[in-house]
Amino acid sequence: MKIANAVALVTGANRGIGRTFVEELLKRGVDKIYVAARDTASLADLLKLGDSRLVPLPLDVTDADQVAAAASVAGDVTLLINNAGYAAFDGAISAPNMDDARAEMEVNYFGPLALTRAFAPVLAKTGGAVVNMLSMLSLISLPMAATYSASKAAGLSLTRSIRAELGEQGTQVVGVLAVQADTAMGAKMPEPRLSPVEVVTDALDAIEAGTNDEVVAGAQSRGIHQAFTADPQKVQGMMLTKLPKRA
Ligand SMILES: NC(=O)c1ccc[n+]([C@@H]2O[C@H](COP(=O)([O-])OP(=O)(O)OC[C@H]3O[C@@H](n4cnc5c(N)ncnc54)[C@H](OP(=O)(O)O)[C@@H]3O)[C@@H](O)[C@H]2O)c1
Repeated sequence: MKIANAVALVTGANRGIGRTFVEELLKRGVDKIYVAARDTASLADLLKLGDSRLVPLPLDVTDADQVAAAASVAGDVTLLINNAGYAAFDGAISAPNMDDARAEMEVNYFGPLALTRAFAPVLAKTGGAVVNMLSMLSLISLPMAATYSASKAAGLSLTRSIRAELGEQGTQVVGVLAVQADTAMGAKMPEPRLSPVEVVTDALDAIEAGTNDEVVAGAQSRGIHQAFTADPQKVQGMMLTKLPKRA
């Protein structure tokens, strides 16, 4: 789909990759962006741009009432960007309890599921598109981010099924696979890191090119993806040495 004149909704729009999505969408000529954040006060800096196309929306993606309210308020959305994410960076066994594992599933899996279910009838009017921010850890398990990797693997599986189901109404579904990027979340991972602009540019280019598949975003991601595709056991084996730190 073309981004010019689209009406987008970006979750977690206040910072990181979400904020970069907003800035790049504005440059590409969208008509409107619902900038969704769980605390709308955190959008103040973005709203300082003074762009009348930005419409703030309170949205915690784990809150069913807020998801339903968003779908009724933003009934003109043509591009849904499920960007919000949470990573605890802990082990599956060494984490003190399963609270973070559950939170990661709530934000990274149930959140995009709830949003896409709520917006599917809205998107059906135009075909539209969905972008799910996944991760290279959707493919490769990283023990120091064990339960995050699992939540992103669930997100990839979900993205594929959603693509098949929404294909009937002509909705394009792009899953974005990327290695560590230069944001608060990525700062917990080793350098070098992708620039958020690189990630977002590749994701939006894929949407505009009509891609209905996963996109590997950023040159560094493509290098790792190529190595993984050539020899999955070797790359997975290298990751298995990266264990969570002991207290
Ligand atoms: N950075 C990386 O290395 C990397 C690599 C591959 C994929 N990704 C994925 O890219 C996406 C964006 O990551 P990022 O690096 O920009 O992360 P980030 O800097 O940690 O920002 C996370 C964003 O998600 C929002 N969020 C968290 N829980 C939420 C909830 N329950 N409801 C609504 N919003 C919520 C945060 O809002 P608050 O400000 O309110 O906390 C924030 O806007 C995530 O899905 C992440 O998994 C990141």
